[in-house]
Amino acid sequence: MDKSIHYIGVNDKKIDLFEGQYIVPRGMSYNSYVIFDEKIAVMDTVDKEYVGEWLDKLAMELDGRTPDYLVVHHMEPDHSAGIAELVKAYPTATVVASAKAHTMMSQFFGKMFAPKKIAVKEGDELSLGEHTLAFIAAPMVHWPEVMLSYEKTSGTLFSADAFGRFGALDEDDGGIDEMRRYYIGIVGKYGAQVTALLKKAAPLDIKAICPLHGPVLTEGIAEYVRLYTLWASYTPEDKGVTIAYTSVYGNTRAAAEKLGEMLRAAGATVALYDLARCDIAEAVASAFRYDKLVLATTTYNADVFPHMKEFINHLTERGFSRRRVGLIENGSWAATAAKVMRAMLEGAKDITFTDTTVKIMSAMSEETEADLGQLAGELLG
Ligand code: FEO
Repeated sequence: MDKSIHYIGVNDKKIDLFEGQYIVPRGMSYNSYVIFDEKIAVMDTVDKEYVGEWLDKLAMELDGRTPDYLVVHHMEPDHSAGIAELVKAYPTATVVASAKAHTMMSQFFGKMFAPKKIAVKEGDELSLGEHTLAFIAAPMVHWPEVMLSYEKTSGTLFSADAFGRFGALDEDDGGIDEMRRYYIGIVGKYGAQVTALLKKAAPLDIKAICPLHGPVLTEGIAEYVRLYTLWASYTPEDKGVTIAYTSVYGNTRAAAEKLGEMLRAAGATVALYDLARCDIAEAVASAFRYDKLVLATTTYNADVFPHMKEFINHLTERGFSRRRVGLIENGSWAATAAKVMRAMLEGAKDITFTDTTVKIMSAMSEETEADLGQLAGELLG
């Protein structure tokens, strides 16, 4: 990375759930950077628990100097919590952000919050001396006020939440799996907006990506862009079958596992998730990763089991589409689960259901096994 750009982010190991719902066994990083030139620009702040630590790091880097600008790319509190405190510590710093972000600042910090400020929009530039930041609007990646900046001299893209991942920087890197789980979970709904951003970024010579979460990316950038292009267009990344099930007494699980065995025996990649016990965000990411999905659940209160309902809602609210889907239902008297699941997926685009829907009457039987074989055959075909 350019020697004038210094990292001053923090690692959060205390967090239990990121954004109130995502487990993060490797913790989380909130990234912030300083660019040193004739003018000094601080890029974003951090979560409120770490503002003190971050200001100390900043002061150390500044070594008695004063920042000229605080560039705010995103107003979600995991990045914006330190804005008022930075302005208090350095009242001559000008806050640079989109007009929407400035409006959000008065929502978060009150109408009395009146720093020196500049509102920037798509195409505006801010010269720091040798370095120049060019601003790129990225609405809904992941909030409406989001603005990225591209530093032209070094080819550094400050990408806000884009290209981020779960995990603290001093932990094992969760790699693409944690980047995918983060993207699908948090930005997955906004594929059209991410596609628009990728189109704007395509002509740029990007040598480094500085996201707000996860490591700075200096290698393999074309591969990250390729994955983002797939994810944003809901194109399956790999061939394989995600089998997501719920099971009350183990009978639906037995069917899901049997199907998994049959598919694996034929050489297919299978990812099996017990929705009551797994990390649901990982199961959701898997459903978006592979080209085929099987949903297996019990009928429950003339509906489907709650964890399955939640899972399908996670899929549809994120624009789940372009997949082949098979259904397995279980019911001891009036099985309705397959009908309910099919209806829940009705609004999802380009879903093709398998011809075979497997019906379990209480427990596996010879007929069930034969039907599972038929379903496996369709999924392999
Ligand atoms: Fe990491 Fe949308 O905030």
